Amino acid sequence: MNTYAQHVAIIMDGNGRWAKQRLMPRTVGHARGAANVRHIVKAANAMGLRYLTLFAFSSENWLRPPDEVSALMGLFLQYLESEVAEMKAVGIRLRVIGDRSAFAPMLQSRIDQAEQETAENTGLNLTIAANYGGQWDVLTAMRAWQAAHPDRSLQDLDAQALSLHLSTADLPDPELLIRTGGESRISNFLLWQTAYTELYFTDLHWPDFDTAALGKALTWYAQRVRRFGRTDEQVLNASAVSHVPTPDLGIKKDVKIG
Ligand code: IPE
Ligand code: IPE
Ligand code: MG
Repeated sequence: MNTYAQHVAIIMDGNGRWAKQRLMPRTVGHARGAANVRHIVKAANAMGLRYLTLFAFSSENWLRPPDEVSALMGLFLQYLESEVAEMKAVGIRLRVIGDRSAFAPMLQSRIDQAEQETAENTGLNLTIAANYGGQWDVLTAMRAWQAAHPDRSLQDLDAQALSLHLSTADLPDPELLIRTGGESRISNFLLWQTAYTELYFTDLHWPDFDTAALGKALTWYAQRVRRFGRTDEQVLNASAVSHVPTPDLGIKKDVKIG
């Protein structure tokens, strides 16, 4: 049985339906969603979680109406502008993953600045996935590996080497993925990194996902038996015998198994 998760990833879905149920424009739902990001980030840092990765905007979300896209971009910029001082004060380190080249230059430079200003922080590692797609991440990593090893063939590429070129190279894989909003799909989020992640789906819309709901998800996680392909008996023995090798799933060394 697990005691805690060090890396939680969240697909923050349901802002639009939250607003619709209240006869309000979708953008109001996004504003409430952004306010909830502030709340949950603060709570996660206070409870000592090491890594929190939030899906804020997918590579497919450009397909939404232009006014909704620009409202989301505006909220992202506003979030960076209002939160970095607080992140510095409480020790949160911010990273942004995704193809940021598609963003307005002002947003790009604000992202760079926020990352630099929080780079020395040692509290919660907050990662915002923006213009992120799991397929993009894997393809980009393969190309980066090839560029770094021009003399080698793709036959030499293994899971460990590829994971070192993903946008999440500095992060352990998430042990727990939460999706709010009632859908049970990954929607092109962390495809490679969730190979053995526990998946938790809740009908709560993102603006309603509060600290108690996060606690409930973490408790659910703590009750999972993580077998990584083994039998229950092996897992029980592995927790008693320290030399049992861990399977190579591209999982980095600092991740606790079981
Ligand atoms: C999640 O909420 C926010 C983003 C995808 C940016 P949605 O906007 O997808 O909300 P629903 O799914 O329409 O309710
Ligand atoms: C996933 O939500 C992306 C984010 C939460 C940022 P979507 O609402 O875009 O997902 P689909 O399109 O319903 O799968
Ligand atoms: Mg949605």
